[in-house]
Amino acid sequence: MRFSGQTVMITGGCKGIGYSTAIKFLKEGANVVILDLNTQETEAAVSRLREYGDKIEGTAADVTDRSSVAAAIQFTINRFGSIDVLINNAGITQDAQLLKMEEEQWNSVIDVNLKGVFNMTQAAALQMKEQNSGVILNASSVVGLHGNFGQTNYAASKSGVIGMTKTWAKELGRYNIRVNAVAPGFVLTDMVKKVPEKVLNSMKEKSLLKDIGLPEDIANAYAFLASEEAKFVTGTVLSVDGGLTL
Ligand SMILES: NC(=O)c1ccc[n+]([C@@H]2O[C@H](COP(=O)([O-])OP(=O)(O)OC[C@H]3O[C@@H](n4cnc5c(N)ncnc54)[C@H](O)[C@@H]3O)[C@@H](O)[C@H]2O)c1
Repeated sequence: MRFSGQTVMITGGCKGIGYSTAIKFLKEGANVVILDLNTQETEAAVSRLREYGDKIEGTAADVTDRSSVAAAIQFTINRFGSIDVLINNAGITQDAQLLKMEEEQWNSVIDVNLKGVFNMTQAAALQMKEQNSGVILNASSVVGLHGNFGQTNYAASKSGVIGMTKTWAKELGRYNIRVNAVAPGFVLTDMVKKVPEKVLNSMKEKSLLKDIGLPEDIANAYAFLASEEAKFVTGTVLSVDGGLTL
């Protein structure tokens, strides 16, 4: 099993891509810790995930809150003794066109998608530096590479994630820590259920593979980037979008 004995933390692991990613890593032998906002939802997700492996734990935490992040990191180290892979998956949207966007919409998306990734990575990287090994994987988006109508805040956050990914690859490589990002296209999760069907169909049409992604497609990309097969890969952004923007 590729990830036997390794500990993988996944933010926003209760549903969608994070949940599928937890399944993938459990099936491949990892110890998995999911963290998410709501205690009950996290406990329920952990119970369902036990079907795929028993080395699963959950902790309620808000990635925007540094003390909550510190507690989640400590929880993981106490339970499993290391953090080998951090997947900064938690993210939100609050869409509005530039001329209508409220300050609160801007702040909340930047807080979760950008500051949350900073908070988690800073805390986990300290542990990884001690270990002299680690992998950090960040959720960017096709929108971070190309922009999107109605998503000023989201585009800023997901482009920012790419900037941080490259910066951390430069800073942390000396500690044997690899840092990469995945840029999904449209993937069938609750986040995308907010997108009008007309837009989704047109995305399907535009993609070279004439399809929308599944959460498992992104989980597979994370697993590759976390694995030994990617041991020489750092500072990159892997698009997983069916060729949407080529
Ligand atoms: N679905 C897509 O089409 C798509 C495309 C590109 C990128 N992404 C990115 O992939 C990631 C996962 O997307 P998804 O579609 O699975 O989303 P989702 O909405 O299905 O799940 C996101 C999870 O993150 C959690 N979360 C939100 N704020 C949090 C916080 N402050 N602290 C901790 N957890 C928090 C939510 O509770 C939820 O469980 C996001 O970063 C998203 O931006 C998704």
